Amino acid sequence: MYNVLVLEGSPRVGNTALVTDWVLTGMGRRARFERVRVCDLAVHECQECFTCTKSKKAAGCVQDDAMADLYDRIVNADLVLWTSPVFCWGITGQLKVVLDRCFALLTGEDLLKGSRWALVLTAGGDHFDGADLVVQMFSRLARFAGISYLGQFVAANCLDRSRLRWDKAIQGQARSFGRELAAALKKG
Ligand SMILES: Cc1cc2nc3c(=O)[nH]c(=O)nc-3n(C[C@H](O)[C@H](O)[C@H](O)COP(=O)(O)O)c2cc1C
Repeated sequence: MYNVLVLEGSPRVGNTALVTDWVLTGMGRRARFERVRVCDLAVHECQECFTCTKSKKAAGCVQDDAMADLYDRIVNADLVLWTSPVFCWGITGQLKVVLDRCFALLTGEDLLKGSRWALVLTAGGDHFDGADLVVQMFSRLARFAGISYLGQFVAANCLDRSRLRWDKAIQGQARSFGRELAAALKKG
């Protein structure tokens, strides 16, 4: 069994949740999912105090909020699947706050080294209306942190959820991405 932590960045249960459902279905039964809607968490923004960089032994943050619990789950997951709609050429503010707070895992023992991350995005525009930049952000961050980045699934031109629901092509591609993730986890 693989433990997959899904960090869901959309403020609503909409296009991204639907596409994520398909990706997770594609991953099959050997994966156990924990889906966390980050909008439901009280996570404060990074205060740039750099306290987290001062301890060489423990990673973590001086702010006592929902991140404290999430840190362990991020570090221990076999795969962290970040999901977000593209908002203004980036990810949602809510998910960016969680990503910024992961800075505290990069210090000390560098707890993210060897972690596996992947990305699911939906976008109202095409691949070059911001999804491309988000992919760059995650893949470069992963390279910087020694994280193994397993890739992304981008569903572009998503505006109407009721139409997306019946889009067999996107559904098939999303499931196939899920199967690729499962195969990568199996390979180790
Ligand atoms: C505030 C806001 C900003 C957006 N900015 C972009 C953007 O920069 N590029 C893009 O392709 N789509 C953009 N969109 C469209 C959403 O990414 C798209 O509709 C997405 O599928 C919504 O996903 P959700 O239903 O999971 O929230 C934006 C939507 C909103 C509400």
